[in-house]
Amino acid sequence: MSTARDILAVEKVNKSFHDPVTVQVLKDVAFSVARGEFVSITGKSGCGKSTLLYILSTMDTDYQGDVVIDDERTHGLDGERLAAIRNEKIGFVFQFHYLLPEFSVLRNVMLPGLKLGRKDAAEVEADAMERLRELDMADQALKMANQLSGGQKQRVAIARALINDPLIIMGDEPTGNLDKRNADTVFGIFQRIAAEHRRSLLIVTHDPDFAARTDRNIVMDDGRIVG
Ligand SMILES: Nc1ncnc2c1ncn2[C@@H]1O[C@H](COP(=O)(O)OP(=O)(O)OP(=O)(O)O)[C@@H](O)[C@H]1O
Ligand SMILES: [Mg+2]
Repeated sequence: MSTARDILAVEKVNKSFHDPVTVQVLKDVAFSVARGEFVSITGKSGCGKSTLLYILSTMDTDYQGDVVIDDERTHGLDGERLAAIRNEKIGFVFQFHYLLPEFSVLRNVMLPGLKLGRKDAAEVEADAMERLRELDMADQALKMANQLSGGQKQRVAIARALINDPLIIMGDEPTGNLDKRNADTVFGIFQRIAAEHRRSLLIVTHDPDFAARTDRNIVMDDGRIVG
């Protein structure tokens, strides 16, 4: 029996930065994302979107409230457990992609799969090539990551985020550097992941067309959810 259970629950998250002065950038942020749901987040520059994603991805632990991922409360867990949750359950595409420049494209995509150790290297490589093919990047697989254009790097970062088949994919403007055709390709892949594989997506975007086509759009303003 599968019901639309929540993969992510955000419980009253508050966050302040203290340097140079104390400023509260997240205010009572609460929402949840169901299994298979494709959710977008929009809002003006500086309203707190990246700060929120950083907390939800378990990278930032300095906040009030709690974040529940796949029924596990994450606030206060030790670094080792958080790293395991990130590697197993979450795929990220950040605003600025962090590919390892001295490794090949293929190796970059494979790394989280090798680290997880659920499959042997040959299987991880086959999966990585399949992801790269979907993103029209298979012919670039053996290039070094620093030999790619910005949009190509972004597509590799997306392939890497998908390699472990995570329960939820979080993206900070993953299509920001892409032309319309590639942005549409990525949107289609996200949609298919949600509909066919029942994975959840939480994607920050400045593109109103992208947001309008997702299952639900969360609007933020000055650290709060307003719609
Ligand atoms: N390390 C930090 N120290 C102090 N203030 C910060 C820090 N990081 C972010 N801020 C502030 O927190 C607020 C929210 O920033 P955030 O990066 O989350 O915005 P955003 O919604 O992602 O904006 P954008 O759409 O431009 O990416 C901004 O006012 C920003 O200046
Ligand atoms: Mg941002």
